[in-house]
Amino acid sequence: MCAFSRSLRIMSVKSLFSLLFFAFLLVACGEVEDTRPGKPVAHRQATFRAILKSFEPMGIQLREETYKAETFRQHTEKLAELKDAPWEYFGAETQYPPSKSTDRLWQEPEIFADERDKFIRAVKDLQFAAQNAPEEAEQAVETLKAAYAPVEASCRSCHKRYKR
Ligand code: HEC
Repeated sequence: MCAFSRSLRIMSVKSLFSLLFFAFLLVACGEVEDTRPGKPVAHRQATFRAILKSFEPMGIQLREETYKAETFRQHTEKLAELKDAPWEYFGAETQYPPSKSTDRLWQEPEIFADERDKFIRAVKDLQFAAQNAPEEAEQAVETLKAAYAPVEASCRSCHKRYKR
């Protein structure tokens, strides 16, 4: 009897630990996993993270006077490659956790498409500017800052409306 109740007590301590561990995992991950077929939300988030990864270093180069023509150009090429990637994952019925999109996105698809097209055009202009950047670094930075700004503005403008 006593042994039985002791093992019960051990069990409950154990399950308390596993509960705590599970809670810890949830906090540590901080994210709900996308378990739907095709994982559209996880895919679009991953493509945006890849976009950020090519976009952010360009901003750093321009702001911190660490401009390197070749790596800058490589980042613009990568961004140009990625510019069309997220949109196919915004299909119908894809507004579920862990999505950070606003409901508004599905209520006004035309405006969302405009924001998307503005972004794509701005990325193409930035790519062109990098391909044709002046040799002289200071001049190049001037030109590239002017081409970088509209891309940054388009991320911001779309996020303001459509990202939580
Ligand atoms: C046309 C709209 C639009 C444009 C342009 C846009 N984004 Fe987003 N972005 C979104 C939306 C919507 C989400 C939320 C996606 C979701 O979770 O459903 C998002 C999410 C993100 C995320 C979070 C991904 C994650 O892990 O949850 C990052 C990072 C991001 N965008 C970076 C950028 C950067 C950098 C740019 C510009 C270079 C950009 N986005 C341009 C609409 C846009």
